[in-house]
Amino acid sequence: MQTPHRDGFETLAIHAGQEPDPVTGAVVPPIYQVSTYKQDGVGGLRGKELGEAARWIEGYEYSRTDNPTRGALEECLTALEGGARSLVFASGMAASDCLIRAVCKPGDHVLIPDDAYGGTFRLFDKVLTGWGVTYRPVTMQDATGVQAALTDRPVRLIWVETPTNPLLGIADIAALGRVARDAGALLVVDNTFASPYLQQPLSLGADAVVHSTTKYIGGHSDVVGGAVVVTDTALGDDLYFLRNAVGSVPGPFDAWLTLRGAKTLAVRMERHCQNAQRIAEMLVSHPAVAEVYYPGLPSHPGHEVAAKQMHGFGGMVSFRARGGPPEAVGICGRTRLFTLGESLGGVESLIEYPAQMTHSSAAGSELEVPADLVRLSVGIESVDDLIEDLRTALG
Ligand SMILES: Cc1ncc(COP(=O)(O)O)c(C=O)c1O
Repeated sequence: MQTPHRDGFETLAIHAGQEPDPVTGAVVPPIYQVSTYKQDGVGGLRGKELGEAARWIEGYEYSRTDNPTRGALEECLTALEGGARSLVFASGMAASDCLIRAVCKPGDHVLIPDDAYGGTFRLFDKVLTGWGVTYRPVTMQDATGVQAALTDRPVRLIWVETPTNPLLGIADIAALGRVARDAGALLVVDNTFASPYLQQPLSLGADAVVHSTTKYIGGHSDVVGGAVVVTDTALGDDLYFLRNAVGSVPGPFDAWLTLRGAKTLAVRMERHCQNAQRIAEMLVSHPAVAEVYYPGLPSHPGHEVAAKQMHGFGGMVSFRARGGPPEAVGICGRTRLFTLGESLGGVESLIEYPAQMTHSSAAGSELEVPADLVRLSVGIESVDDLIEDLRTALG
């Protein structure tokens, strides 16, 4: 029997969910900038008569519920992550919130990384605790420790980031998948730092993937968005229900921009990885740098796991300034090409000071980040220019 042909990642990024418009032939999904749709009699939603080729423009009633441009993006992301269904949101945080509230109910307990993104920590610590969901930070890099934490009390959900923001910690997704399954917990991986091009957690045993599509998938620092991709269609239905009930959807233009970004994800990620590797190697030997965090360095404690589960080591690099916090702040103010700003994953390089910027909400908690830490989002500019810029800023 012939195995059905499965297109490669780059092909899916350009074609999945993006058949030419069956009516006009437009080769990219148009921006359906519309809130509501004419019905032919009560319950008479349009498009059914066009058949399978038009499934993405059929059956629309109201754009909080469904929109064809958004649907095209969802179909593409489902293919890129190898899931059963995906839903996109107005932001990465909206995606995380919807997933957690679709899965957990008041009284449930969750494990989170002890070095999670500050906004994720804030969501658990300041919002979901008020809703009756408790959490415990654990070191996700140690699957045995996670297993031990699961024996204390029932856990509904294990939230993993890998690589983590901003310390680039690496968790073994396959090992955590086994641990979660044995404990009857759901394994969620925030795949924002890797992108689906570098890592596909669902194929390694995760139940759900979360993205801030603001980052690598959008890729151009011009749109905020989020996504959840799941393997279980029943969970997909729950998410669909909750998103429609709550209304945390992206607008059609934002969905279109994100889909346009996704088309070039593979080629951008290749260059992000190459540039970041060169920069990490330069930083390791620089006298103003005390420590470098990049999973592509053989000295990184997660290097072997990253090499096993990732297709490249990504574009994020963090380092500690030997001169301490004032020097870390000073470096952030002296670059020319690395723009001082939050966010990451765009084509342009960014630099930031996590302790007072992206991770200020973790100050005073177990997740507080080192005060001498600088985080780089390495873009796809000429790497020699980026290296020269950093050398000048480091002094
Ligand atoms: C790892 C990670 N997850 C989630 C988010 C939240 O995404 P958004 O800013 O799109 O809400 C971010 C944002 O920086 C992030 O870095």
